[in-house]
Amino acid sequence: MRCDRIWRDARLATLAGEGLGETADGVVAAKDGRIVYAGSAGDAPRLEARETIACGGRWITPGLIDPHTHLVFAGDRAREFELRLAGASYEEIARAGGGIVATMTATRAASEGALVDSALPRLDALIAEGVTTVEVKSGYGLATESELKSLRAAHELARRRRVTVRATLLGAHALPPEFAGDADGYIDLVCREMIPAAAAQGLADAVDAFCEGIGFTLAQTRRVFETAQAYGLPVKLHAEQLSNLHGAALAAKFGALSADHLEHLDADGIAAMARSGVVATLLPGAYYFVRETRPPPIAALRQARVPMALATDCNPGSSFTSSMAFCIALAVREMKMTTEEALWSATAGGARALRRTDVGHLSTGARADLILLDAPSHAYLAYRPGQLPEAERAAREVLALPVFPELLPAQIDHVTGTIQRFYTAAEAPSQQSV
Ligand code: NIG
Ligand code: FE
Repeated sequence: MRCDRIWRDARLATLAGEGLGETADGVVAAKDGRIVYAGSAGDAPRLEARETIACGGRWITPGLIDPHTHLVFAGDRAREFELRLAGASYEEIARAGGGIVATMTATRAASEGALVDSALPRLDALIAEGVTTVEVKSGYGLATESELKSLRAAHELARRRRVTVRATLLGAHALPPEFAGDADGYIDLVCREMIPAAAAQGLADAVDAFCEGIGFTLAQTRRVFETAQAYGLPVKLHAEQLSNLHGAALAAKFGALSADHLEHLDADGIAAMARSGVVATLLPGAYYFVRETRPPPIAALRQARVPMALATDCNPGSSFTSSMAFCIALAVREMKMTTEEALWSATAGGARALRRTDVGHLSTGARADLILLDAPSHAYLAYRPGQLPEAERAAREVLALPVFPELLPAQIDHVTGTIQRFYTAAEAPSQQSV
């Protein structure tokens, strides 16, 4: 079989079934951006490619998936971070006019181009650690045109980088000051203007809301969901982050893609999610940044067989990290996920949370989004959070670096780990076979 590129002598975590799908002496072959074979060398058909990469026994996993980010925003909330360190709570700051509304002011003032420019370094940080699919929300415009501007910026990110972007409308993120005291009036705007406009312009892949004391009530969230459904858009929810408003059960009623955060999720919520197959997207960065002490009920979710995903929740207020590796480490250390569960959640689970069947696993027909880990065990994702020993740094190009079938990094700055340039077609090594 002719293909474009073959990776051989690898240990695979295919994530093609329930577990990791570990395969020793593994081979992956890609053609036209798709996997044409992933499995053991012994079972491989005869493969010919213009390039073969010897992986020296390194791990190949699917590219990481980050299914919950707020990458598009303007401004900075470092001062707020310091206030929180001094004892103020996330909720107190939001109620005092800081928080999401502070970012809204800066985001409304920023042009679409400025939003793209400020989001790109955050996206690049994700990509550098192996993220190949990312969800990006609006939610800092809180007015129709600013929300649409943020969604357009999210789509522009996909044009600027080799990454798959799913855009989510989060109009119901917080109450903008012009609607003070009239949350229902603002939800009218979300339902009558924002969702219809985002749907008509094809800008949203899903609709999200923040169901919380400092966000919106269950009844308001229901209206958002009903409208989204009427426009054919799937829903997802920031649920049970700071208190239990039973948002997860509502999400389940609407067949939501996922319910996210979930520190305050109860047994009824877990049962409802299990029944309707709602993914539990856990956000260890937010747990860490807001100094939450109550972890999400991982053991009960596991027991109820609720699929789990992990995401950075990258945002300027509650989780200013763009490192999936950091979140994986936190999930394992602070939330007691197993290392296998964390890898599953950061790949296959994220794909489920975005309802994508073409990513998150290494199997024939899937997108050839994959990463090479220069580590003796996939557990290093959690075991070496955010830092590589010098000896490993020389091989930084293969540590959690996304490898695309069309391009391979030709030159890496080994100090910063950044890609200096890619091979061009003319430079690509000549045809070999395995
Ligand atoms: O996912 N919980 C609400 N939304 C974000 C925080 C946004 C912000 O503080 O700017 C979250 O944690
Ligand atoms: Fe969030």
